[in-house]
Amino acid sequence: MKSLTDVFTLSNGVQIPCVGYGTWQTPNGDVARDSVVAALKAGYRHIDTAAAYGNEASVGEGIRLSGVARSDIFLTTKHWIMERGYTKTVAAVEASLKNLGTDYLDLYLVHWPCVEKSNPNWKEINAATWAGFEKMYKEGKIRAIGVSNYLPEQILALEETATVKPMVNQIEFHPGYYQPALVEWCQNHGMLVEGWSPLGCGAVLQDVTLGKIAAKYNKSVAQVCVRFALQSDVLPMPKSTHAERIAQNADVFDFELSDADMLAIRTMPPVGYSTYHPTEAPADSLFGGNYDVD
Ligand code: A2P
Repeated sequence: MKSLTDVFTLSNGVQIPCVGYGTWQTPNGDVARDSVVAALKAGYRHIDTAAAYGNEASVGEGIRLSGVARSDIFLTTKHWIMERGYTKTVAAVEASLKNLGTDYLDLYLVHWPCVEKSNPNWKEINAATWAGFEKMYKEGKIRAIGVSNYLPEQILALEETATVKPMVNQIEFHPGYYQPALVEWCQNHGMLVEGWSPLGCGAVLQDVTLGKIAAKYNKSVAQVCVRFALQSDVLPMPKSTHAERIAQNADVFDFELSDADMLAIRTMPPVGYSTYHPTEAPADSLFGGNYDVD
């Protein structure tokens, strides 16, 4: 990858710019709007949001204000756990389109799986949700569909009934918690892995090992984290609400981490783990999933 507009290619041929601009925890309103404008000014062409972030309206406003053509932007949003099931999923897509002020999504992701621990009918629930994804994909309202925070067990279960396989899995990925077995399995399974919290939600930025590596390249730890993802063939989505950091996190194409430094990062002690793991059903236990299936 040589620039922000270089792409990964999904299994259906859709191309996705190699660094996304993340918006988790960015408040709706001026902050989300202005930081999306700043990201597009800095050259990002890939924006990642979610219904659950509550900022789709301002993300959409930022896109329109930026002056960058919608067709030049890759826009992802995510389906929330309270909208599980076919009918609710279809309605959720329509709601996100309306909130974002757009008539299509580039990528739509299931935000969290329903897991066995939450509901014995987890397979059926996930399959019903996915059927809604497939309908909207086949109608052309979504260019690519995928999942987030899924483990192989849930992906394989989904594929028992799916007519379109998930093209993406978006998971927690950063130095100190990079899930190598899951990444390798997804990549061998034909899925693009996207990394959420590539900076460990800010928690890895003070790490001494990473600091030493960053100093060698005259770069920041945040930039090392973004490179670590790219050099692992994982698509990073750094989040910041500050224009200079937004630009800094994208200024990662003038250096390459050596094999030794990649190895040093892979073998450093765990740091920055969010504690959100699908088998613990964090989203369900925090917010209460919805298990009605129509
Ligand atoms: P802020 O939004 O105030 O800039 P992640 O992308 O892993 O979720 O990490 C996001 C966190 O890291 C946010 O708290 C963000 O703060 C902070 N952050 C993002 N980019 C940088 C940077 N280049 N330097 C320092 N902190 C950063």
